[in-house]
Amino acid sequence: MNRILVTGSRGQLGSDLVVALRRRYGATHVIESGRSLHSQDSALLPYKVLDVTDNQHLQAVIEQYQIDTIYHLAGLLSAKGEQQPDLCWDVNINGLRNVLEAAKSYQIKVFWPSSIAVFGPHTPKLDTPQIAVKDPSTMYGITKVAGELLCNYYAQQFGVDVRSLRLPGIISYSTPPGGGATDFAVEIFYAALQYGVYNCFVRPETRLPMMYIPDAIRAIFDLMQADLASIKVRTSYNVAAVSFSAEELVAEIQKHLPDFTCRYIPDFRQAIADSWPSAIDDSKARADWGWQPIYDLSAIVNDMLAKLSPRLKKVPKSTLSKVSA
Ligand code: SER
Repeated sequence: MNRILVTGSRGQLGSDLVVALRRRYGATHVIESGRSLHSQDSALLPYKVLDVTDNQHLQAVIEQYQIDTIYHLAGLLSAKGEQQPDLCWDVNINGLRNVLEAAKSYQIKVFWPSSIAVFGPHTPKLDTPQIAVKDPSTMYGITKVAGELLCNYYAQQFGVDVRSLRLPGIISYSTPPGGGATDFAVEIFYAALQYGVYNCFVRPETRLPMMYIPDAIRAIFDLMQADLASIKVRTSYNVAAVSFSAEELVAEIQKHLPDFTCRYIPDFRQAIADSWPSAIDDSKARADWGWQPIYDLSAIVNDMLAKLSPRLKKVPKSTLSKVSA
């Protein structure tokens, strides 16, 4: 029987993953957790306030709910990690180590997201192979490289069934992303629908690997359900879906919203984006457990606009100078 703990459950990935997990395994079988208190805390939708760096509390929650699977999503993303490198190290590394230690003691299966941020300036930018130079220039990337090695170590030394994906930028509509260098690819939809204009923090030609949330959820499910013998990579699998530049995304949105304009005002996140690959090779994930993405750029834009437009109010032009400056 699955008793699932999701850490960082109210983040961009977690909020959609929890819905999908509860649909599949039942509401009470999925325990959400995060560092802040949320009002929806009820017996039917269990939520625990949990700081993953607090090892004792983590173990107490595991024992209380007899957890057998953890989706360990708690962590700081790339841009936030540059602003708070100590916290990024503490949460991303010590949190993962606590989860892996618990997994070893309680025979827990673990999913943990790695990232394209493991790669760096000396990695091949196009069709980045599964095994490639990893010289990240961000603290986030450093924690992901170390985290991948930790996962591999716990799998090899202690037989922990930990599985991981190097996720690209995730595009989704339920919860906005919090502090990544790929956030522009989500923010742009909100800005286009509400204001008709967006100040993009990367240059127009910046091309990054991206994935739509239904593909990301399916990748996680497929990986977690794959036969043990088919999981040959215990660091983390490259997974790809689409790859587009900021200006290609703008052009695709303009097919639906012809008046939409984008201004490019690069900030410190440009350097982070520049250090990452433009497109990665995921043939190992395809071969080992059958990974196959569905959504291309035009399908993503269609669906994002359809999902977000009923929820967002257009802001009148007269108030625009205040919000878009
Ligand atoms: N989306 C993440 C970030 O921008 C990459 O893993 O930090």
